[in-house]
Amino acid sequence: MDLFKAIQERRSIRKYKDEPIDDSALEKILDAARWAPNAGNYNSWRFIVVTSPTQNKLLLHFCPGIDDVPAAIIVVCTKPKQKRLKEATRLMCMADCAIATQNIVLSAYSLNIGSCVVVSFADKALREILDIPEDVQPYLLVTLGYAAETPEPPARLPISEIAFRNDYGKEWNT
Ligand SMILES: Cc1cc2nc3c(=O)[nH]c(=O)nc-3n(C[C@H](O)[C@H](O)[C@H](O)COP(=O)(O)O)c2cc1C
Repeated sequence: MDLFKAIQERRSIRKYKDEPIDDSALEKILDAARWAPNAGNYNSWRFIVVTSPTQNKLLLHFCPGIDDVPAAIIVVCTKPKQKRLKEATRLMCMADCAIATQNIVLSAYSLNIGSCVVVSFADKALREILDIPEDVQPYLLVTLGYAAETPEPPARLPISEIAFRNDYGKEWNT
């Protein structure tokens, strides 16, 4: 699949068919995640792949950002080297997780699997349900499943409003 087409046509999917995803597809998605650029190549991400329908149904109660039971949820976490993170390291870990998440959603799309990034979840409940240790921090969830909806593309700001050439505020396309 053409990368630009995937970037433009991927949509957040919030309604899923009741159909499981093969482990081979999930493994491809995880492989895409681990090839993401990451600060210092520390590979500090950890990914919890929740495929149990019981766990996913339970998680829904503690994740207001999820509307429907997906076939799988990937919990994108960081396991930093140091216990007490400096602000700069914390930001790097978050950036690593965000970039890996982009690889997850794009690779899922290329496999015809719908996805939605979710930031709205209860940290404590998630930790308890998934047995996440203290030194691991979940940052984002990605719901995955076969789409039961075809959302219209939401508007984006035009490039002229968000990109500048040489100095902030100077027109990009002069
Ligand atoms: C960091 C982040 C957090 C998000 N959290 C949620 C969420 O909690 N619930 C939800 O339904 N969508 C969530 N989304 C999906 C966005 O709403 C969606 O990407 C945006 O509306 C643009 O739509 P599109 O992905 O179809 O282009 C999140 C996306 C990102 C990148």
